[in-house]
Amino acid sequence: FQKKLEYVKKNIRSYPDFPKPGIIFRDIFSVLSNPPAFHALKDALFEHVSEITPKPDVIVVLESRGFLFGPIVALHNIPCVPVRKKGKLPGDICRQEYTLEYGTDVFEIQSDSIKAGQNVLVIDDLLATGGSLKAACLLVKQLKANVIQCLVVMELLNLKGRNHVAVPTHSLIQF
Ligand code: PRP
Ligand code: HPA
Repeated sequence: FQKKLEYVKKNIRSYPDFPKPGIIFRDIFSVLSNPPAFHALKDALFEHVSEITPKPDVIVVLESRGFLFGPIVALHNIPCVPVRKKGKLPGDICRQEYTLEYGTDVFEIQSDSIKAGQNVLVIDDLLATGGSLKAACLLVKQLKANVIQCLVVMELLNLKGRNHVAVPTHSLIQF
């Protein structure tokens, strides 16, 4: 398991000074463009999720790059529902504002996508400041369901984002 993740990590390309001087951008798409690395990441995701107890009733995936990984896990026969940026989801929705580096944005979820009391696994590609995962967890709470875990592929440890999330959070790879 750890060997697979080390291999994945080696295949995450880092771009110094993107999008701004001093920031090292970790590009998850470099894993998707490398089938052996993508297979290793898929195996690690499956293995991790199969060990979560209780088994999640629903997977919540965050736009945009959470959409790359949640659906793979959903093939374990766990329903997968999206959190999207404002104005994109039809039907009755719940909204949650969240903080970005500069300003705010709004996440939405369909009101009937999760039932009260269900156990939810939230999946995204990356944990930076934690604002996105925190907002997703608040949306799940609005629907009276429980987040049992937030799962990300990559965590940027220096930003200490997990302190903002207030829900058990697991990262496969840390920088
Ligand atoms: C990035 C990333 C996470 C989020 C993490 O998404 O994919 O979703 O930021 O940052 P945080 O922990 O500080 O909230 P972004 O908002 O750039 O959207 P995108 O996936 O649509 O590019
Ligand atoms: N990689 C991808 N997305 C990000 C990063 C990063 O290093 N930092 C904030 N969003």
